[in-house]
Order: sequence, then C-alpha cells, then structure tokens
Amino acid sequence: MQGKNILLAVSGGIAVYKAVALTSKLTQKGANVKVMMTEHAAQFVPPLSFQVLSRNDVYTDTFDEKESKVVAHIDLADWADLVIVAPATANLIGKMANGIADDMVTTTLLATEAPVWVAPAMNVHMISHPAVVRNIERLYQDGIRFIEPDEGYLACGYIGRGRLEEPEKITARIEEFFQEDKTVLAGKKILITAGGTREKLDPVRYFTNRSSGKMGFQIAEQTMLKGAEVTLVTATRELPIPPNVKAVYVDSAEEMYEAVAHVKEQQDAFVMAAAVADYTPVEVHEHKIKKQSGNLSIQFKRTKDILLSVGETKRSDQVVIGFAAETQNIAENARTKLTKKHADLIVANNVSEPGAGFGVDTNIVTFYFADGREIALPLLDKREVAARITTEISRALDAQHNG
Ligand code: PMT
Repeated sequence: MQGKNILLAVSGGIAVYKAVALTSKLTQKGANVKVMMTEHAAQFVPPLSFQVLSRNDVYTDTFDEKESKVVAHIDLADWADLVIVAPATANLIGKMANGIADDMVTTTLLATEAPVWVAPAMNVHMISHPAVVRNIERLYQDGIRFIEPDEGYLACGYIGRGRLEEPEKITARIEEFFQEDKTVLAGKKILITAGGTREKLDPVRYFTNRSSGKMGFQIAEQTMLKGAEVTLVTATRELPIPPNVKAVYVDSAEEMYEAVAHVKEQQDAFVMAAAVADYTPVEVHEHKIKKQSGNLSIQFKRTKDILLSVGETKRSDQVVIGFAAETQNIAENARTKLTKKHADLIVANNVSEPGAGFGVDTNIVTFYFADGREIALPLLDKREVAARITTEISRALDAQHNG
C-alpha cells in the first residue's frame, strides 16, 4: 500500500469513529490518505481528528476551495488510486445509486474514475429494506465493490447485520487489492455454471435443490476481476450479475447442457459449480396434475452430465474444474468424480457441515487435483474460496502454456 493514494469518504452514522481508526491503519501501512466528510459525518466526529491522523486537509464543503489553482472535487477525484466509502449510510448509497451530486462527497464520487468501494453501516432493517437492496444491486452492477457489513450488536440496540466491517479487515482487503495482479486471466474465456436446475413436472410444479448460486456467482466475479471474459450459465435469477459478466439464464439440466455445449469450444476453462439435477421427470404434464386418492408415482430419467460432456471432449489447452457436493466419504467420492469426469480439479464440499455448501455465504472445501495433490481449506467466505479457485485456474493455464 506504500505510496498509494486512498480517498476515504465518510458519511454520517455512529460508525464514523471506526473511520478514524481506518484512517490511522491506512496511514500506518504507508498509504497517502485524504478524507472527505458529509456534513452529518462531521456532527459525529470533527474533521480535525481525520486531519491529524491523515496529515492532510479534510474536505467537507464543495465550495470551500483550499487551492485556487485546482477545483477541489475534481482534483481529489483524479488524485485517488482507490476511493473507500466508510461508513456508507443508506442515504449516501441511495444518492450514489441515483447519480445525485449535492455535496463534496457525492460530487467527488461522480467525478472519480478510480475503483470505488463501499462499506455500508446501518440498522438491520434498513440494510434489508427493498429500496436499499435495490440501490446496492444497482451500484454493484455499475462496478462498485462492497465490503459486506458484519453481524453483531448495533448502536441502535438491535443485534444483526449492519455493523461496519472492522478497520483491520477493510485495510487487509485494500492491501490485497493493491497486491493482486488484475490481469492474470486477461484474454482467457471462462465458463461457470451456477444455481440449482429446475426440472418441470407440470405447469405449476418443478423439482429443484437448495443451491442459491452464491458459490458460482462469486467465482464469476473473482475471475472477471482478474481480467477473464466470463460466461455465467445460471439457473438462479435472484442474484445480481457481476459487472462485465455475460449471463445466460437457464432452468433445466437439459437447457444448461445446451447452453454449455453451444460455447464450450471457445472456452479456456470451465468451473461447474451448479447443482444440476441428476434426474428429471420422464413426462412433463401439459396440465396441472389433479389430486387423487392414494399415492402418486412419478417416473424419472437421467439427465445429461454436463461436467462429463466437457471433460470427455476437453482439449489439452482447456482446464476443467468440477465440484462435488458430498455428505459422506468425501475424499473417495471426489477422487472418483475427478477420474470419471476427466476433470483437472474437483472442489469438494461436505454439504452437511455447518457453514459449508448450500445457501450460506461461507464454504469449507478441499481441492483434489488430477496429479494427486490435495489442499484442504478452512472455513472461508465464498468470495475467498472463489479467489483460491481463480488462482488454481491461472496456475493450470500457465502450466499448460509452459508445456
Ligand atoms: O449455490 P450455493 O448455495 O452457493 O451452494 C454451493 C454448492 C453447494 C451448490 C456448490 O458448492 C457445489 O457443491 N456445487 C456442485 C453441486 C453438485 O451437483 O454436486 P454433484 O456432486 O452432484 O456433482 C458433481 C459435479 O458434476 C458438479 O460440478 C456438478 O455441477 C456436475 N454435474 C452434475 C450433474 C449433471 N447432470 N451435470 C453436471 O455437470
């Protein structure tokens, strides 16, 4: 972080005191920090605290031009290598999502071309309010990155999600960002599957599973951030598509198979994170099946195995990664899948473990490589698991390239 210019935007919530600690952590790491504050933020902590810790002027008023040779909000916007908004209130997020520029902070945020990160902090009900969710989604699609709020005791007395992430963790994420090579997958085409397929029975019923799509979407985002051209074939429609990722929506295993088959020739790597149905009803009824006395039997047939279809036809310059969702004999089952499906790597998760598998934001995975290596990872955010998978993709592509 040495010598990097970080612009910290502070909006008005009780978590402003943590922004003071963040300023200190960032400057200790060698970053040049400048701070701008909303009027409300300055009611919680005076600008002087930030001025002393950053050893720079603090900006609160668009019309308070400190230097006559430059226009402050443009100068600051151009100066920054990264802008971090912490804490970001619901109000500020709303203004950002709608392009409003009515003070120093919002005007500068519109003027900057630097990456902008937002660390929200607010009451648990506010962060899940549809308007805030909508605004966050919109900003996410505009390419803004978020540092998820933590769960815990909130200043308003509630316990829940909404607490500003700890300054140490924000600092670590920023440090990682400056260290990472953002071009390791430049020019590479990567196809990712995500979500649980839906197998139709009649016009009102289908069979599915508990996959939320979170794991696959995180892989799509992480590979995109490393410069890859990403196609996300998804059976989930609930999650926002990461910026610059091409989404192909599907419902059934058959549709997912077709979507993958259509583009598989052009891909450099595949990551099959979707939970694909192994069976689908033999008959799809044209009309709703009516209640009747006694039991109902439904006959199922096998679906096509998408991972297998990609593994079988894989060229020597393509990398194939599959998942294994297991509840027992993890290593044995994962290794069997690795061989049977001709994959280079199987990412196995024990989906019966707390914090792993379906629906949650974390996962516990073990990598089983075709060359016999094994790497067991601890409980990590799915974002971090996705980052590790991204590193393995880039290593495998490099290894192939170097013969
Ligand atoms: O979506 P989340 O809520 O974040 O949950 C993540 C997850 C648990 C879904 C994910 O981590 C995971 O384990 N995905 C694979 C789920 C699965 O179907 O596992 P499986 O062991 O049944 O299948 C093995 C592999 O074959 C998988 O890569 C699967 O995508 C693939 N497969 C399976 C059947 C089929 N017909 N075609 C396939 O391509």
